[in-house]
Amino acid sequence: PIKIVTIGGGSSYTPELFEGFIKRSKELPIGEIWLVDIEEGKEKLEIVGALAKRMVKAAGLDWKVHLTLDRKEALTDADFVTTQFRVGLLDARIKDERIPLSHGILGQETNGAGGIFKAYRTVPVILDIVEDMKKLCPDAWLVNFTNPSGMITEAVMRYGNWDRVVGLCNVPILCQKIASGSLKIPEEELFFKFAGLNHFHWHRVWDKTGEEKSSQILRDTYSNAESMAEAMEFVRKSAGESGNTNDSGVKNIPNISYLAEQVQNLGIIPCMYHRYYYITQDMLDEELENFAKGETRAEVVKKTEKELFELYKNPDLSIKPPQLEQRGGTFYSDAACELINAIYNDKRIHMVVSTKNNGAISDLPNDVVVEVSSIITSQGPVPISWGSFDPSPKGMLQLMKNMELITIEAAYTGDYGKALQAFTINPLIPHGKITKTLMNEMLIAHKKHLPQF
Ligand code: NAD
Ligand code: G6P
Ligand code: MN
Ligand code: MN
Repeated sequence: PIKIVTIGGGSSYTPELFEGFIKRSKELPIGEIWLVDIEEGKEKLEIVGALAKRMVKAAGLDWKVHLTLDRKEALTDADFVTTQFRVGLLDARIKDERIPLSHGILGQETNGAGGIFKAYRTVPVILDIVEDMKKLCPDAWLVNFTNPSGMITEAVMRYGNWDRVVGLCNVPILCQKIASGSLKIPEEELFFKFAGLNHFHWHRVWDKTGEEKSSQILRDTYSNAESMAEAMEFVRKSAGESGNTNDSGVKNIPNISYLAEQVQNLGIIPCMYHRYYYITQDMLDEELENFAKGETRAEVVKKTEKELFELYKNPDLSIKPPQLEQRGGTFYSDAACELINAIYNDKRIHMVVSTKNNGAISDLPNDVVVEVSSIITSQGPVPISWGSFDPSPKGMLQLMKNMELITIEAAYTGDYGKALQAFTINPLIPHGKITKTLMNEMLIAHKKHLPQF
């Protein structure tokens, strides 16, 4: 039987994860699932852990579900370790978003200054986890969801010297749904190829006759906000309840229009997060409006989380409540549980994952982590060749990959100059005295979680 360990088990996403495992119980012979958290998350762990136990029982399964603050005990002889922790919890995210915004600078939890600081807080913890895994479960796979997912995966390989790791995100799944909604063709009949970085990838789409549909999708759906909303309406109707996403495709990103001629000229389809780079000013204006009202995404999520845990406390509840779809992580478990299923059963299916490039994108070195279409085997992901990008996406991709490499090097070494370098080349952070002012302010605000600086 399989032993699964989830670090950050107190997350409100845990019922999503359990729903995914329960759905796959015939293929995955699970014996035990250990939910690990820390003192600060103890109450959340107990509430959501009790719901997880009820879900397992209601499904008629005999899995042992353990709740613990003892990571080492949990990791012993694990087969799969999934990570969904947030160092500093949502209060740290509030700082990641509010401090940049207070200077009129974009505040986002995985992009710009906020994303860089989330990496700084997370890298020391993930490297500790890897050290434990080397001793306690040297054959296990690490399935990383913790954001910034691509950078954390890269840090595990580069500084943890641990290659049995796969980074995941739900955004590629949502992109496939948008394409299906745009073409009104079921997803299963389409062929997709993705390449880029986490929260920074592009894709191409073909129908089953082999005709490429990318340009049509860009013209019909990505050229204005109304047609994007229409495609998502189609997705919701065909998916029923489980298709509860918002009009941009993902709950945490507003449906602000790309520039029609720019995306059409691009020829390949951007992901939702490209809005922060392609229409930066429009996204910032929207964020500043919410900031003025005291409603950053982090604050909205904090309220949602509170409501969710109230629901989770109900002893009669033994399913994932639909209200969880207020969070951006919808379809999270389709990625996590299907990946585990595919590795365990050597399914050789297509999934989009963060893994070592190995030549898939010829514009980047072989040994860097990219988010690409891959075939998932018992040996892990085998990336599918994308080839090279045109100058516009290539220029941004190479800049962003190097920004990621500098960020994790700064996270690992705690070097102030290196950290300033990451802020300097990040396209969402302005340059000059303000760069240092912002960085210093964030270093102080997050001091407790930055032992390396
Ligand atoms: P959260 O604030 O609820 O944190 C989850 C849990 O992690 C908390 O219970 C907390 O106590 C715990 N935790 C903090 N530090 C820990 C440590 N050192 N060891 C063990 N547990 C620790 O977070 P959330 O909103 O549920 O999100 C969880 C994580 O998953 C975040 O990093 C988020 O960015 C990420 N996420 C990623 C995707 C994706 O697409 N990759 C989707 C959804 C969420
Ligand atoms: C999407 C992204 C995740 C991110 C989440 C935020 O699902 O893929 O990486 O963590 O949105 O959602 P939230 O509800 O926390 O704002
Ligand atoms: Mn993501
Ligand atoms: Mn910059």
